[in-house]
Amino acid sequence: MAASVQNFSVLRGPAVFKRLYRLHYCSSRRASAKNVVVEAETSVKKDHCETGGKKSFYDLLEERGEQAARSLLISCPSNTCEKKFLKHMSTHGDINKYFFYESFGTYAVVEFAKKEGVFSVLERASLPHLQHEAAVPFKSRLLSLKTDKLGDVPNSQKSIKFLNQTSMPVNDLIKKLSKEDSIDQQLYSLTEAYQLTEENIRLRFLVCSLLKDIAASYFPECSIKPFGSSVNGFGKLGCDLDMFLDLDGISEAAPKQVRAYSLEYQLKRTSTERAATQSILSVIGECVDQFGPGCVGMQKILNARCPLVRFSHQPSGFQCDLTANNRVAMKSSELLYLYGQLDERVRALVFSVRCWARVQGITSNIPGAWLTNFTITVMVIFFLQKRSPPMIPILDHLQKLAGPMDKSTIDGNDCTFVSDLTKVKVQNNTETLEHLLPEFFEFYGNFDFNKLSINIRKGKEQTKTEASPLHIQNPFEQSLNVSRNVNATQLQRFVLLCQESAWLVQQNEVARRSSATGNTPWGLAALLVPLAAATKGKKRGTQTPASRIKGLLESLKSSKSQASNNGIKASLKRR
Ligand code: CTP
Ligand code: MG
Repeated sequence: MAASVQNFSVLRGPAVFKRLYRLHYCSSRRASAKNVVVEAETSVKKDHCETGGKKSFYDLLEERGEQAARSLLISCPSNTCEKKFLKHMSTHGDINKYFFYESFGTYAVVEFAKKEGVFSVLERASLPHLQHEAAVPFKSRLLSLKTDKLGDVPNSQKSIKFLNQTSMPVNDLIKKLSKEDSIDQQLYSLTEAYQLTEENIRLRFLVCSLLKDIAASYFPECSIKPFGSSVNGFGKLGCDLDMFLDLDGISEAAPKQVRAYSLEYQLKRTSTERAATQSILSVIGECVDQFGPGCVGMQKILNARCPLVRFSHQPSGFQCDLTANNRVAMKSSELLYLYGQLDERVRALVFSVRCWARVQGITSNIPGAWLTNFTITVMVIFFLQKRSPPMIPILDHLQKLAGPMDKSTIDGNDCTFVSDLTKVKVQNNTETLEHLLPEFFEFYGNFDFNKLSINIRKGKEQTKTEASPLHIQNPFEQSLNVSRNVNATQLQRFVLLCQESAWLVQQNEVARRSSATGNTPWGLAALLVPLAAATKGKKRGTQTPASRIKGLLESLKSSKSQASNNGIKASLKRR
């Protein structure tokens, strides 16, 4: 295993970055328990403002990870008195922040100002007295609050304010968006309604931190980091929690010192790095399953291209995917985060297109031949790189801006790109979202998927080199197609829906302008009504693609806004 473990090590900027870019966010927010307030849900603008809009990905991970290490997750009786609870907790130390949420029970997250607060709670916590059952005596930071009386506050006078951890039902969202004044506002409003809240992000990092405590029984120096939509800025409330067990700190070779004698660890060897990853995940998965309080439904999916263990973390309600040795995915999460931070229109467009795709059945929770959220996000980024002038830079340009600390090679792949957001120049593109939304649909409604592949490293279409219906190059592992799972039927549905949507969003805008009531879904809201129903009042699947196109062409003929539709009309005819 020596050889395989050594392979885990990569040229890494991040570790150095952690030191260089350390911020003092937490110290400035410290407050004594009496000052603690449960903060309201974040808005897009506030979120942007709090992070200064320019926080590097590694600052974010470090800051959140550190908050999580000072936090506890506590199951509370539903009639817990918030005041008394807080008073009790603050006997252990100053509290920075706390909040309550519901997930098959009432839970509180309590973040202490110092780790000593957590140690104090754990020192004084007792093991449960079980009468008819036995338990694994694994002590974790997931605790239960016990009260000496049956309930402090009658249920009718509940004093706890719960924070929402689920996203708004789509019908409510449609109503909300229909009341907005502009399509731009609709896209921002959708983002605000669906994005992860401050508390949900904290909870995600806390779950990683709790799992790290389990993995640390084998690998004390390991860390578990979230990646994917939990941290890339495009996460929707309710999205899964992708985690990466990072053993890099352990396997990083210490500098060789010239001495007569030196000692090295004896390690168990495996034939390949993949075999080492599978065995580590299998054992950690087993521990999580057997000893991890609240972790249920463990599945080991070790033969996947990227081996993982999947389980539910009941107290948080998160569906968790734990991977190991998956640094490249961490880099793509960082890249998406960077794009999202560069211009607020990026997140608004990605959120809206992802939501549209979900409602129209283009993406699904069930694995299959569908497009995925990740695929759709890369497609939006490519589209924005192709604007004239481009809204966001291509990856090759971000690579050129990289400093020496950004150098990163993972498994032979060059993953270098700038991490300091302030080094990336704001682009001149001033297009509105109202303009970009139909343009996105038109772009992909006309894209020659048969011949061309999508490449955000170059920001250019390239000639396809493989037979998959949809070819989107992985930005870092360039031989991989991130959309290899997508079949021709699903791609065709996507293209048709893009064509319909491009037309519909413009029609609805016309409708809105002539309508004073604003009660009927228009603009983005109209796109969130399943489309076959929206255009024809018929159920999905009752029309063939040809008849749908024909219907659209007829509608276009009668449309008063001929000029704005000329491009789409031509494209529909070409098909
Ligand atoms: N990933 C990848 N290539 C793929 C699929 C996934 O590199 N073909 C990486 C991406 O970094 C992605 C992460 O794995 O963000 C997690 O994948 P997934 O959970 O499918 O996507 P998310 O971006 O997390 O979106 P969702 O909200 O649907 O979970
Ligand atoms: Mg995910």
